[in-house]
Order: sequence, then C-alpha cells, then structure tokens
Amino acid sequence: MSYAPVDPPPRLLMGPGPITADPRVLRAMSSQLVGQYDPWMTATMNETMALYRDVFRTANEQTFVVDGTSRAGIEAALVSLLEPGDRVLVPVMGRFGHLLVEIAERCRAEVHTVEVPWGEVVPAEGVEEAVVRVRPTLVATVQGDTSTTMNQPLADLGEVCRRHDVLLYVDATASLGGNALEADTWGLDVVTAGLQKCLGGPSGSAPITLSPRAVAVVEGRKHVEAGIRAADDTDAAGERIASNYLDLAQVMDYWGPRRLNHHTEATTMLYGARECARLLVEEGLDAAVERHRLHGAAMLAGVRGLGLRVFGDVAHKMHNVVAVEIPEGIDGDGARQAMLDDFGIEIGTSFGPLHGKVWRIGTMGYNARKDAVLVTLAALEQVLRAGGAPVTAGGGVGAAREVYADATTSGTDA
Ligand SMILES: Cc1ncc(COP(=O)(O)O)c(C=O)c1O
Repeated sequence: MSYAPVDPPPRLLMGPGPITADPRVLRAMSSQLVGQYDPWMTATMNETMALYRDVFRTANEQTFVVDGTSRAGIEAALVSLLEPGDRVLVPVMGRFGHLLVEIAERCRAEVHTVEVPWGEVVPAEGVEEAVVRVRPTLVATVQGDTSTTMNQPLADLGEVCRRHDVLLYVDATASLGGNALEADTWGLDVVTAGLQKCLGGPSGSAPITLSPRAVAVVEGRKHVEAGIRAADDTDAAGERIASNYLDLAQVMDYWGPRRLNHHTEATTMLYGARECARLLVEEGLDAAVERHRLHGAAMLAGVRGLGLRVFGDVAHKMHNVVAVEIPEGIDGDGARQAMLDDFGIEIGTSFGPLHGKVWRIGTMGYNARKDAVLVTLAALEQVLRAGGAPVTAGGGVGAAREVYADATTSGTDA
C-alpha cells in the first residue's frame, strides 16, 4: 500500500472559519525548528508577546499563545480562573455561549446564565441586573458568536464588571482582527482567540491576554509540578488548577523570565501565530477592521441583491460573517455541495435551531478580499438558479460592486 503525498484540492474557504490561510503564514510555518531555549527561540516568543499586545490593544505583560485550538485558550482561561464552587455568569446568545457554560460546569463552578434568542445580543442592563443578583466572581462572554453572527458590545459590559468588581473573560476567537476590540480601554480582563478566522492562519494556537488582576487570581492558585519545582517554590493558598497542560500559572512561567520547562512550545504554530500578528500589525488594526467592514458590507449587499434574506439583528452583526436564510425549495446541503463541486468554494452550514435554515458565509482574514466576495456571489447565483430559486440576474455581484464603487468614491480603498 502506498499513499500519495498531501496535496489538497484548491479551495476558497468562505465559511465561518477556518478560512484559506494567508500564504505568508504558511511560508513562516515551513521554517526549520530551533531548540526550545535557543536565544533566537526565546526572542521569537518575546516578539510574539509584544505583537499580540498590539493585536489585543493592551499593555498586559501576560500576553502569549496557548498551544491548541481556540477551545484550548477558553479552557485554559476558565480552568485557571474558576475554583470549584465559584459563581460565574455567562451571557448566552448562541452555541459558543453554551460552550462557556459547559466548560465552566466542568470546572465545577456554579454557573448562571442570561439568555437571549439566537440572532440578538445581550443588553448590558440585563447583565448588570444578573451580576447584582448572582454576585459572580467572573462574567464569561463570547464577543462574536459565529453560530448566529452576532457581535456582543463589550465596552458597557467591561464598565459593569469594573463597577461591581467582577472579572470579565471574553472569547474573541471569531471577531479579533475583523471587529474592534480594545482590551484595556474596555476593561476586559482575559481575552482568548484563535488564528483561523480574521487572523488568516490555521487553527492550532490560541492567543491570550490576562490583566494584572486576572494574573493575581491565577497566581493565587500556583502549584509548580514535582520534577521541575525549585527549592523555594511554595504552593499558593488557592486550589490547585485542575488541568496540568492548561495551567496558566505554569504556562506564564514558561513564557516569562523563569522559562519553566512546562511543555515543549509548538514551534511551527508559534511561527504561524507570530506571522498572523505581524501581518495585522503591519496593516494596522484599524485598517484590518475597516477591510473586514468593507468586504462584509459588500457580501451583505450582494446576498440581499440576490433576493436572499439575512438572519438576525444586522445592526449587531460581526463584519466578517453573514447568515443567509436558505430560500424555500432549496436543499441547503445540496447547494453547499454544488458550490464545492462546481466552484471549489466552501460556505458554512449551521447548528442548533438554525440548522437547515441558514448558510453562513464568511469574508475574513486572507479572504476579506474583493475577488473572493465577487466570485462567491457569482457562484451562489448559479447554484440558486440551478435549484430553481427566483434570483435576480447579476444582482449579487452588481450590489457588491456598488459597495466597492461607493467606497472608492468616499476614499476607502477596496
Ligand atoms: C466564537 C468561537 N469560539 C470558539 C470556537 C472554537 O474554536 P476551535 O475550533 O479553534 O477550538 C469557535 C470556532 O468556530 C468560535 O467561533
């Protein structure tokens, strides 16, 4: 039996993520390994920390990457912050709010929720009312929930949490880089992300930042493992963090001057994470957010131009993904398959109450580009037409091009 070398088919990934990786990120990831404590490696780790401070808009010393997909970042944050019995409040507006509940429950925290229907965001007053009632130590929320496309406003939530002396954790996996996020200005204590959405990389590395007050909570639970423990290491008073791999107290000591030999950094992912941040910082965060806004607006106008309806509160939609209602009589999965088979374009399905009702189309990272938007709309028109949907001929591409033409007139570069 012989196996062919890895040679994936050409695809344009226009779903809710992962998206087609930026070739510059892939090039960085094909670089040779160096030793864990090689001065070049530790300098590269320090540079990665500095770059992600710019990406998260923070001065937090503790800004680094957790090895693993975005979910590893979420688990690391929650398992390191929450002791069994701690009260946590989770605003739930979609699948990923439910994920925070599930992980917090596994941390054996006492979990309370404020829920809104899918397609809406949670009002800050609702969160404040629950904070006063529940008195949690932590509010854990998603910023952009890809399951519904909603972008939870965070500035007011940060203010509420500061006022009531509660820590605020944010999962910004789907939103970071494509929508404004100001960790320090908005008072976000811990933010985690992933590379495979607006950052234009593959999944497998989870950038994280922790404010000094979050660091104090994590340090308060520090127990250095036997075998690498120094004579003067004493156990902190708080309960030992339930995960070894995702123990941020030890991971911070690996990234810090102590260089504690906790795990072997995933060097290739580090290269990728560093390149994603470098490209964003080189472009400028505001410019990257504006790029996502523009191409997201073109896609939104395009699907509407095809006569399709858009799900959810569009005023609170993330820039980088749109949920499109599947027209009557169209087989949603069949149409996605035709997009893939005939055009090499992937668009997304959906979960839970939206399953079978909407497709999710992304314009993010490397694919937040005019050609990617126009070609997707042109293909979608053909697939809908073949399925018998009454689409407006050329309506999608035409409406998107108008958005680009307006942006050129108003000085925004398409
Ligand atoms: C908002 C959000 N959180 C968490 C995740 C989980 O990320 P991963 O699959 O990289 O673990 C995703 C993935 O789509 C997401 O969109």
